[in-house]
Amino acid sequence: MYKVSLGKLLPFLAVFIYLAVTFKLFFIDWKLYEADEFLRFPSCTESIFNVDCDPSSCLRKPSPPPSTKAQINTKCHQISTQLISVHSHPREASDNLSTPNTIHFISLGQWKFTFLNYLSVKSAHVFAKPLYMVVHGDTQPHGIWWNRTITDIPNIYFAKRNRPLRIQGVYVPWVEHSSDILRIHTVFDNGGIYIDTDVLILKSFYPLRQFSMTLGRESHYGLGSSIIIAKPRAPFLCHWLSAYCSYRPFVWNWARYAVWSPHELAAQHPHLIHVEDKNLLHPSWHEPDLLFKGNYDWSENYAMHIWHRFGYVPETPEEIMHLNTTIGQVMRHVYQSKL
Ligand SMILES: *[C@@H]1O[C@H](CO)[C@@H](O)[C@H](O)[C@H]1NC(C)=O
Ligand SMILES: *[C@@H]1O[C@H](CO)[C@@H](O)[C@H](O)[C@H]1NC(C)=O
Ligand SMILES: *[C@@H]1O[C@H](CO)[C@@H](O)[C@H](O)[C@H]1NC(C)=O
Repeated sequence: MYKVSLGKLLPFLAVFIYLAVTFKLFFIDWKLYEADEFLRFPSCTESIFNVDCDPSSCLRKPSPPPSTKAQINTKCHQISTQLISVHSHPREASDNLSTPNTIHFISLGQWKFTFLNYLSVKSAHVFAKPLYMVVHGDTQPHGIWWNRTITDIPNIYFAKRNRPLRIQGVYVPWVEHSSDILRIHTVFDNGGIYIDTDVLILKSFYPLRQFSMTLGRESHYGLGSSIIIAKPRAPFLCHWLSAYCSYRPFVWNWARYAVWSPHELAAQHPHLIHVEDKNLLHPSWHEPDLLFKGNYDWSENYAMHIWHRFGYVPETPEEIMHLNTTIGQVMRHVYQSKL
């Protein structure tokens, strides 16, 4: 008979505890997190926080008018004390489209802003001509390119927001998941345009702002969450947020909620969303050669996502000067454009 002794089990127990702590397998309400932001969607069973996102109620509510600077609604009072740059004259009058011409970014945790991130903000300023831009996050990025961003680029604000650590009471261990929830929620609350900091805007989003909601196609089974264009309280976003009610904290669930779920919802509610098939997110992550090696015709592109995980992204202006590839062209196009 084989006897299991405690001594033999100990190494396994140690590895298990190590993994459990590292990957936060238990969703214990550590006191550490008690001050953080919670999100609740009342259509789900549990109620924790005061975010108003009930699909049935927001579908009935008329949309508020496009927000202006004074109406930034981030559910965080710090916004007025955290402005990092204030310009009292918006550069473009409101054009009454249902989606306000405002740009939102998310920044969670400590991270270094890169040359590409600088170009992303600059491209948004130059080509989308937003009324203002807001970086929502728990910490400002750092580094020389962040410093250049806040000195070069006007009308950009930092809004202090806590990282969402729970959704419907379920712990959200991955910052990418928190970022997805926060971006959808931010656009739902304020309307406007959310872009990832590795997206370059290449021309005005005016045509897309006429829709209630726009996403770009990433693959035949997914719509990207790296660019979200929507009017305040767009019904589609409400459905998308509600899909997170069944959130389970597995790392591979990221694509399920952020990419597959909007694809499925778009099939169910085609009248609530405009899907931009080609001109937002192409070249896509599954065709990196078009971006990093080829010369893609981007004349019709509203934007381009620089999929930095799939190839080398230049880190200095010198590197892009003679780079004859799609990525070289678009980065140069943004870098050389006048502020
Ligand atoms: C926007 O709407 C307001 C009020 O309805 C109107 O006075 C203004 O001229 C409109 N602006 C544009 C650019 O259409
Ligand atoms: C950026 O600016 C801050 C504040 O002025 C400064 O402390 C920091 O050293 C600067 N960082 C770099 C990399 O220049
Ligand atoms: C860039 O590469 C393309 C082919 O990929 C070529 O046709 C073009 O002449 C090149 N341009 C320059 C400036 O080298």
